[in-house]
Amino acid sequence: MSKQNNKKKAHLLGFMQNGFNSHATGMWRHPRDKVNWDYGRPEYWQHIAKVLERGLFDAIFIADQLAPYATYKGSSDHSVRYAVQFPCNEPSTIVPVIATVTDKLGIGVTLSTAFEHPYSMCRRLSSLDYQSGGRIAWNIVSSFSHGEWNAYGVDGRERQDRYERLEEYMELCYKLWGSWDEGAVIADKSSGIYGDPSKIHEVDHDGTYFKCKARHFVPPSPQNHPVLWQAGSSNRGRDFAAKHAEAIFAVLPTLARMKEYSQDLAQRTTERFKRPAGSVKKIFGLQTVVGESRAEAEEKFAHIRDCIPLEGALAWISGHFGLDFSRYALDENVANIEVPGIQGLFESIVYAKDGAPVTVKEAALIYAQGMGMPVAVGTAKDIVDQMEVYLDEGGADGFMLITTFTPGCYEEFVDWVVPELQRRGRYRDRYAGSTLRENLLQY
Ligand SMILES: Cc1cc2nc3c(=O)[nH]c(=O)nc-3n(C[C@H](O)[C@H](O)[C@H](O)COP(=O)(O)O)c2cc1C
Repeated sequence: MSKQNNKKKAHLLGFMQNGFNSHATGMWRHPRDKVNWDYGRPEYWQHIAKVLERGLFDAIFIADQLAPYATYKGSSDHSVRYAVQFPCNEPSTIVPVIATVTDKLGIGVTLSTAFEHPYSMCRRLSSLDYQSGGRIAWNIVSSFSHGEWNAYGVDGRERQDRYERLEEYMELCYKLWGSWDEGAVIADKSSGIYGDPSKIHEVDHDGTYFKCKARHFVPPSPQNHPVLWQAGSSNRGRDFAAKHAEAIFAVLPTLARMKEYSQDLAQRTTERFKRPAGSVKKIFGLQTVVGESRAEAEEKFAHIRDCIPLEGALAWISGHFGLDFSRYALDENVANIEVPGIQGLFESIVYAKDGAPVTVKEAALIYAQGMGMPVAVGTAKDIVDQMEVYLDEGGADGFMLITTFTPGCYEEFVDWVVPELQRRGRYRDRYAGSTLRENLLQY
């Protein structure tokens, strides 16, 4: 094996939402965003998917929340006013749209367990995996925001209870996905027998949170069950990921945080849950801005930051962290604030300046720019230099790339950065298989 082949290679995912504006707040204002594209039409998604597949990405990751954020100043007014992940279509609706024009690209869809019974969740995911030829991942979330709970008319759950319920949720999902034995489908026209009832087991679950007595309605799909993704970052969340996930997403602003996280996850995976080392791919968030020269990239980056409205940024951090930040002074140090919402992501902004104090205003703007992800700005060479450090020293197995302007940011990445990754032996030059799991396990 050549020396080049021994280098750790990167997995890549495009990180978006099925909505008007994805994660970087205010990007819709950018003069290069969605020019002649409508996010609500299939053509936009098909174009992006083809670009990502041309770039040999493992998957597109479709994030989601179930309702507009409504924490800032007690309403969703600012989410509406500044298009803070608003409006947003249901994520699984674009899966067939993407699957029909691609062959290899995985499609990871965020579906919340909060208000859906495991039976219908498994049925939907099996159907999508079947239809796409085995290219589906499920990003397992349990919904965290007041806006979501209010939309469904339910009281928010404490974190502890959320994860206990989620454990049972998965237990029932595994039962359903494992309930069809090999040889269950006979489909013999002459005898008229379709299935062997002795090989399609009725699931009989009577638990604390769920009851279910039925046969799973969909035959085993190519991957049997979707690739399981998770992004919990609290103590319970990391345990859940170490136990169940095949890939985990984390936003870690510095190399030191990446190292700490990678060690922690490895320990949980191998020691606590006795899974082989490397069973969970660690995919870290990254924002890239590429230019033909550093100066050009810096200029582009400045333009991107100019699009962020401060009040929109405050509405977003209030929604994600479950706390109304209008109650705090803009110059207050965020390290002194305790949040009930997404703990792990909050830490990404508390540590965004490597331990130096971060004010509420800075936190909002950092988060709105790219969720606290590290930013790689420069030429393709500069960006790959940075990615190599995260792969070799930070423990990253790959990167989820947050969007800036679309579809241009992915076109540029695929045309400029992917060839540089390949040239350095840091990336595939072809897909290994046709299912997402096969490609995720390629290296
Ligand atoms: C990179 C990243 C992406 C996430 N994407 C979503 C998402 O699309 N939808 C969602 O409801 N939660 C999302 N989350 C939230 C987590 O899945 C999880 O529910 C949240 O972090 C709360 O769990 P925790 O308290 O264990 O951190 C994301 C978290 C991270 C770190």
